[in-house]
Amino acid sequence: MKTQVYVVNGANPDFSLLAKAAEVLRGGGLVAFPTETVYGLGANGLNSGAVAKIFVAKGRPSDNPLILHIADASEVDKLVRQVPVCARALMDRFWPGPLTVVLERTPAVPDGVTGGLNTVAIRQPDSVVARDLIRLAGIPLAAPSANSSGRPSPTTAQAVLADLEGKIDVVVDAGPCDIGVESTVVDCTTSVPVVLRPGGITLEMLSAILGDNIKVDSALRGDNVTPRSPGMKYKHYAPLAPMMLYEGETGVAQEMLVDAVRLALSTKRVGAVVSTETAGLLPEGVAVADYGSRQRPEEVAANLYKALRKFDNEPVDVIYAEGIVESGLGLAVMNRLRKAAGYRIVKCGREG
Ligand code: TXA
Ligand code: MG
Repeated sequence: MKTQVYVVNGANPDFSLLAKAAEVLRGGGLVAFPTETVYGLGANGLNSGAVAKIFVAKGRPSDNPLILHIADASEVDKLVRQVPVCARALMDRFWPGPLTVVLERTPAVPDGVTGGLNTVAIRQPDSVVARDLIRLAGIPLAAPSANSSGRPSPTTAQAVLADLEGKIDVVVDAGPCDIGVESTVVDCTTSVPVVLRPGGITLEMLSAILGDNIKVDSALRGDNVTPRSPGMKYKHYAPLAPMMLYEGETGVAQEMLVDAVRLALSTKRVGAVVSTETAGLLPEGVAVADYGSRQRPEEVAANLYKALRKFDNEPVDVIYAEGIVESGLGLAVMNRLRKAAGYRIVKCGREG
């Protein structure tokens, strides 16, 4: 299969190209498209055959359910049994935007989308291109991130092609995504909603609406329990070389620098995924992927996946990554870095 690339303007997309992409979707094909978070790999979310193709193209385990993307909030009514008050408050405030709500599904949602669960994840993206495409297709689009399973999510069409060229029909290219990490997934089927995946809507923003009536899944705090979101249990976001994450309140850059210099001296090729502040301190010989200022988590989020993919074409033996503070988007950034490192973590700044 030859993957077509349709280049459009993100703010004012060419409708004739989007209409062609919508036609491919209606015919059961696969179209990668930009959202404000990351690029998604879309298929007709009401057609089991089309949805099955997503799992093949990505090499995704079939029990990891997909998010349905809708153009207008009113479309949820066909897809879910009910919208609890909390969910409604979150949707009113954060849609369109990087919030995914998990609700009890109706039979309109195929099993292939939900991995057989009785719930479905839904979001209304903020991206104009995404919403125009969904509207033109006239169907909800099932769309996971448009990467091969286990790899960093794509924030550009080039990253989509690096993983999926020849495996999908079309990629709509509207340049880099704004936010750079995926949507926040909130399970709204329990009396207290639970954050299953931190993302573009921060915990602080959720608390501003729900007060104390919001929990973070214990699996995200490192407690060893069965994951509630099937996506939690798989290897994720991983660069090709093994990665080690340095994190802690203090001493992160210093401890990382010492280890990186030591390893670089021993003929190993070292890559570093670091802040601009730390990049300036690294010696020559260490390959650097700069994710921006650690003072600005939004900047780190926007650059994160590009930084994690940098060493795919510039082979290194090991990657050292610098953690940031877990406030605001920092929570989502650290969640992705820990997974990308396969939980190989060096805790810094400890006494003794
Ligand atoms: O920003 C995003 O959310 C991007 C863009 C393309 O919209 N999409 C995305 O999809 O990140 P994906 O498939 O890579 O991640 C979906 C997450 C997974 O962790 C999955 O396990 C969880 O949502 N999920 C989906 N349906 C669920 C359900 N019914 N119950 C619990 N978790 C669910
Ligand atoms: Mg994903």
